[in-house]
Amino acid sequence: MAQMETRGGDGRWSPKGATALVTGGTRGIGHAIVEELAKHGAVVYTCSRNQKQLDECLEKWKSKGLKVTGSVCDVLSRMEREKLMENVTGYFDGKLNILVNNAGTNVLKEATKFTAED
Ligand SMILES: NC(=O)c1ccc[n+]([C@@H]2O[C@H](COP(=O)([O-])OP(=O)(O)OC[C@H]3O[C@@H](n4cnc5c(N)ncnc54)[C@H](OP(=O)(O)O)[C@@H]3O)[C@@H](O)[C@H]2O)c1
Repeated sequence: MAQMETRGGDGRWSPKGATALVTGGTRGIGHAIVEELAKHGAVVYTCSRNQKQLDECLEKWKSKGLKVTGSVCDVLSRMEREKLMENVTGYFDGKLNILVNNAGTNVLKEATKFTAED
């Protein structure tokens, strides 16, 4: 992760100007995180599996003046994750400040039993 200026004018931590990747940003918690970060001035990249829903979200954020872009990615696929990281690296010129690994599921087992596929 790249270093960034984390203080706003009031001296408090701020994501203004930060670059952020939020996976699963078209609905639910991820959607709220994308909007909140962008409203606080971060530049956000997001992804989901549904192109139509992603496009609708990107259009809505653009109309609100928020800096959000994204692409389709199924994070279950290693190939698609690698493509996502290529896209994000190119878009942010290799500088990512914030990663919100939101798209996921609950697999309950001992931490040492998880595999790369999990
Ligand atoms: N809601 C809760 O109470 C709760 C509690 C504990 C933990 N969590 C965790 O918090 C995260 C978000 O939950 P949520 O309730 O906000 O979920 P949600 O409303 O179902 O939204 C999930 C988001 O992630 C995307 N997504 C799902 N699977 C994906 C995949 N394989 N690749 C890329 N994008 C994917 C969805 O879009 P597409 O379907 O179009 O891909 C959508 O944008 C999850 O990891 C969940 O396990 C949630």
